[in-house]
Amino acid sequence: MKTYDEFFHYNRKWVASRKASDPDFFVKLSEGQYPRFLYIGCCDSRVPAEEVTGAKPGELFVHRNIANLVHPSDPNAMAVIEFAVSQLQVKHIVVCGHYLCGGIKASMEPRVGGALDPWLDHIRNVAELHSGELKHIPDEEQRYHKLVEINVEAQCRNVADIPVVRDSFRTRKYPRVHGWVFDIRNGELIDLKFKP
Ligand code: CO
Repeated sequence: MKTYDEFFHYNRKWVASRKASDPDFFVKLSEGQYPRFLYIGCCDSRVPAEEVTGAKPGELFVHRNIANLVHPSDPNAMAVIEFAVSQLQVKHIVVCGHYLCGGIKASMEPRVGGALDPWLDHIRNVAELHSGELKHIPDEEQRYHKLVEINVEAQCRNVADIPVVRDSFRTRKYPRVHGWVFDIRNGELIDLKFKP
């Protein structure tokens, strides 16, 4: 685990190595961003979007929150998505969940009182909507994994239903919405092949 100072030490080495491979790297980066992807993921420190996809600076526009939720009542997520679609004109929106997600796990347990409760209620509502499917999975671990997947698909539908996304797709055929799950246990990304 890095110490505080090591971050800055690493940063200086990173700047030097970027300039060594391309002297204009930061000049080009300063000219603007034209990412083709909006990535919506979980805050979990074990799911580094750029590292697991190989995305370079400028390639991913990123929004993260606990359990990768997209709710119409969340002004932060709505602003990010509207900006990404209308201004950046991203071609793809990815909702990426992950197995062993603490937010999903906590939503399977009773409310504890605190700021997380109303947030996790969004997941509880998703679970309630799919209770028929979930209750047939006797093993709690498997039910937990299934809820991770169901939650990603529910958030993909929420994204696809946002007027700015729907209108853009109708007129321009983009952005396409994708649901992914990252498996912390082996590092693999799984495409859930979301169909709106
Ligand atoms: Co998580």
